[in-house]
Amino acid sequence: MAEDNSTSSPVGKLRQHWGSRLGFILAATGSAIGLGNIWKFPYITGDYGGGAFVLVYLVCVVVVGLPLMLAEFMIGRRGQENPVGAFQKLHRKGSPWQGAGWMGVASGFLILSFYSVVAGWAMAYIFKAIAGFAGSPEQIQDQFTQLVLSPGDSIMWHSIFMVLCVAIVIGGIQHGIERWSKILMPLLFLILLGLMFYGLFSTNGGLKALAFLFRPDFHKLTGEGILSALGHAFFTLSLGMGAMITYGSYMERGARLVRDAIAISVLDTFIALMAGVAIFSLVFHFGMEPQQSVGLIFKTLPVLFAELGPWISVPFFVLLTFAALTSGISLLEVVVSYFVDERGWSRTAAALVMGGLIYAVGLLCATASLEVPFMGGKGYFGFFDDLTTNYMLPIGGLLTCLFTAWVFRDKDRVDEFGSRGFAYRAFVFLVKYITPVAVVIVILHGLKLLPFMDYSH
Ligand code: TRP
Repeated sequence: MAEDNSTSSPVGKLRQHWGSRLGFILAATGSAIGLGNIWKFPYITGDYGGGAFVLVYLVCVVVVGLPLMLAEFMIGRRGQENPVGAFQKLHRKGSPWQGAGWMGVASGFLILSFYSVVAGWAMAYIFKAIAGFAGSPEQIQDQFTQLVLSPGDSIMWHSIFMVLCVAIVIGGIQHGIERWSKILMPLLFLILLGLMFYGLFSTNGGLKALAFLFRPDFHKLTGEGILSALGHAFFTLSLGMGAMITYGSYMERGARLVRDAIAISVLDTFIALMAGVAIFSLVFHFGMEPQQSVGLIFKTLPVLFAELGPWISVPFFVLLTFAALTSGISLLEVVVSYFVDERGWSRTAAALVMGGLIYAVGLLCATASLEVPFMGGKGYFGFFDDLTTNYMLPIGGLLTCLFTAWVFRDKDRVDEFGSRGFAYRAFVFLVKYITPVAVVIVILHGLKLLPFMDYSH
């Protein structure tokens, strides 16, 4: 850790900073791009019927996601602290807004507990890919069911993934997080591009996939679908729990946040759409069902990989694992930065203890994974996912938005935004009137609580 990259923090320790602006962008992009784009986006799009869901998701990214990402960067860089500390510093000690920070720490904890299990599946598939996928499509798809139903394997891979996350977070900002992101994100982009073109031009499913994803059929859109589209906009952009506040806090003054937020959101959306096109081309080519739930990519892609061979499949699952890792460490980093900044723990102790607890909670998801009914039949996995993605993240985002709109001092806000021009006024208008209202409406609609709507059927 170079001295000149650090500033004093309230507890008297030196705060680490990114080594370069590119390092920050790649790390934030690495946090955003992960299983959410490649695993989750295609499967929930399949479950919620395609085009109309995708459209709502895209609207949410622009109207809610982009302004909030900017808001989180601004709060983080201004506060130079973990989410709890940042809200206090920008308001006052003991401010009730720190509650938003706590909820973020709790969200990070819960999300990582199931995220790690899915990341573990991705790792398991590296070795299945090395061994080679062979047999009928049904046999290949069966491998996923076997993996999920054998807790021993799931637990082993979940353990390995958590150990990696903890080790990198202990390594710290520049030497841990930044270095990895720089190398691996560009590679992932290239391989997805290749798979998308293959899906579009070398299978019979390309056109059907495009129609499925981009021709909206609003009859298929439910209140739950709209809520999930909003929740996914938060999830995929790593918003609503202070991850971007934390990453913003490792940033020095001077970077142009608006441009960075736009670049990251666009890139993240592109990756998700590319993955969607690639995967649905295969789904339609092989005549499979789009509704395959959490198994979608693990069941469809290997059928193609059986034809393409390990030269494509092994790098794919390796990169998917790394994408998951750069996201997983951002989840852990939020929890760790809270204990380091606010409780005075050492980075190593915080990473080990919290990583250990997250691991333990994750065991529930790995063992009971999908089958054991719990909380309305969803299983721990679905329950944690639904609770965090559809409620905790949107509510955390709503609070962050209200804070930015009404509490963040205008002078500081302009300073962080970088100008007072039209873009700034548009941003303030969005976070004051549009974004919060949109989030509240979608949550109420998802809960079937919106007045003037008929929920009787
Ligand atoms: N955005 C990541 C993905 O799409 C997951 C993630 C990382 C995340 N950090 C987060 C989600 C913070 C919500 C909040 O895979």
